[in-house]
Amino acid sequence: MTFRYANVLSILVVVLASTHFLSSNLQYVKHFLEEFNVTRRLDGHHHHRHNHHDKKSSKVDICDDFPYYSLPPDTNTTTTLCVDRNGCCNYTTVQSAIDAVVTLNAKRSLIWINKGMYYEKVIIPKTKPNITFQGQGYTSTAIVWNDTANSSHGTFYSASVQVFSTNFVAKNISFMNVAPIPKPGDIGAQAVAIRVGGDEASFWGCGFFGAQDTLHDDRGRHYFKECYIQGSIDFIFGNAKSLYEDCELISMAPPLAVGQKSINGVVTAHGRASADEDSGFAFVRCSIGGTGRIWLGRAWRPFSKVVFAYTYMSDIIAPEGWNDFNDPSRDQSIFYGEYMCMGGGANSSTRVPYAQKLNDTQASLFLNASFINADQWLQSQL
Ligand SMILES: *[C@@H]1O[C@H](CO)[C@@H](O)[C@H](O)[C@H]1NC(C)=O
Ligand SMILES: *[C@@H]1O[C@H](CO)[C@@H](O)[C@H](O)[C@H]1NC(C)=O
Ligand SMILES: *[C@@H]1O[C@H](CO)[C@@H](O)[C@H](O)[C@H]1NC(C)=O
Ligand SMILES: *[C@@H]1O[C@H](CO)[C@@H](O)[C@H](O)[C@H]1NC(C)=O
Ligand SMILES: *[C@@H]1O[C@H](CO)[C@@H](O)[C@H](O)[C@H]1NC(C)=O
Ligand SMILES: *[C@@H]1O[C@H](CO)[C@@H](O)[C@H](O)[C@H]1NC(C)=O
Ligand SMILES: *[C@@H]1O[C@H](CO)[C@@H](O)[C@H](O)[C@H]1NC(C)=O
Ligand SMILES: *[C@@H]1O[C@H](CO)[C@@H](O)[C@H](O)[C@H]1NC(C)=O
Ligand SMILES: *[C@@H]1O[C@H](CO)[C@@H](O)[C@H](O)[C@H]1NC(C)=O
Ligand SMILES: *[C@@H]1O[C@H](CO)[C@@H](O)[C@H](O)[C@H]1NC(C)=O
Repeated sequence: MTFRYANVLSILVVVLASTHFLSSNLQYVKHFLEEFNVTRRLDGHHHHRHNHHDKKSSKVDICDDFPYYSLPPDTNTTTTLCVDRNGCCNYTTVQSAIDAVVTLNAKRSLIWINKGMYYEKVIIPKTKPNITFQGQGYTSTAIVWNDTANSSHGTFYSASVQVFSTNFVAKNISFMNVAPIPKPGDIGAQAVAIRVGGDEASFWGCGFFGAQDTLHDDRGRHYFKECYIQGSIDFIFGNAKSLYEDCELISMAPPLAVGQKSINGVVTAHGRASADEDSGFAFVRCSIGGTGRIWLGRAWRPFSKVVFAYTYMSDIIAPEGWNDFNDPSRDQSIFYGEYMCMGGGANSSTRVPYAQKLNDTQASLFLNASFINADQWLQSQL
């Protein structure tokens, strides 16, 4: 999706030393790395690896503090596969662990991923259901790549991680796309961090980092709990039916001068195309912050459906709140609702006319995990 209001971005160039690559200019990723000191740890590793005399002892050093004790043992319902980029356990890449999972396995495969940045493009094919990614915290374990729509035959294929199987679970891990932030007028610079294209997926304590089109919440029923989601334009988009609870939604659109009325970001672009489609995004007890002047959503397709409930909205939300993709014929079919929200951006008095202030009965459909039929699947993932 392109966005004609995109504004000038102040770009911070960050050079991250790593054996694989990475010259990134995502300022929030820089923040992430500095705060949690992942880069320096990788630097240290890089240095050691080139010191051949010291190779054995440095390997011992690296693995010395490996938390073998925290690896969950295999059971009759789960198999654990361990990933560590320093080679302290069986797999050094996430993809190689996925490749080792038995096809159409009824058992859950728990892919335990040690701290670190994993620079790889990851695909979970349809034939590998029941996979769990267990990271060590969304600020210390991340899967990172930098494809764009241009570099990958379109936005949908730009994702650093693509999930096509059912019953996927991710805990305490981040998904990042560190491609250059699109400049105004750029074409083909969309860069997805993850595409969630399988039914029955859940994310617990995860991070999603990107700019335009960060989280492709593509199709199926999904649950997001206590996640951190960062982006600029349409940063949560797709046609899934998803519940987001207690999530932090952070706009990284550039700050605008006081009084400037242009829009330079959008939280959601939900893609419901017809009245028959059972899809929608519900946000409950979330918060929206960050920078720029943004909309809560715009109608990527005519039956776009999004609800925000009990959500704190900072004043970066423009008073009109929503946009019909500049197509007034969509105003009758759009479902955009707000319920019991608060903060400077939640004032509903000057919202677009098709935005609804939901009553208790209307809102109740969106407020808990029944929205995504959790009793049929989410319980079993706990
Ligand atoms: C970052 O990691 C290095 C190497 O492990 C350590 O010496 C340094 O104190 C760490 N810095 C912070 C701010 O944690
Ligand atoms: C799995 O193991 C538990 C005990 O650890 C046992 O009670 C259960 O019957 C086993 N299930 C199967 C399917 O073998
Ligand atoms: C590595 O793989 C072997 C053989 O499958 C297995 O016995 C062992 O537990 C694995 N170790 C780790 C740390 O995953
Ligand atoms: C594995 O996946 C199948 C099909 O998605 C599902 O029926 C089954 O319950 C799953 N098993 C586990 C252990 O999650
Ligand atoms: C991704 O990063 C690599 C290494 O820095 C670079 O060569 C490549 O051009 C980047 N790709 C995109 C689409 O920016
Ligand atoms: C995530 O990590 C935190 C801090 O280490 C821990 O308290 C929490 O239980 C973990 N959650 C999951 C779902 O793994
Ligand atoms: C994407 O590709 C098109 C066509 O080749 C080109 O005009 C455009 O500049 C590219 N966009 C970026 C961000 O490189
Ligand atoms: C909401 O906005 C209107 C119009 O700008 C203003 O008059 C009203 O005081 C605001 N209400 C709150 C609670 O801030
Ligand atoms: C809530 O709104 C719906 C749709 O406008 C309406 O049919 C219903 O009567 C309202 N319920 C209450 C309790 O106000
Ligand atoms: C969710 O809310 C609906 C409507 O209020 C209620 O009927 C249902 O029991 C609730 N489900 C759960 C799992 O709490």
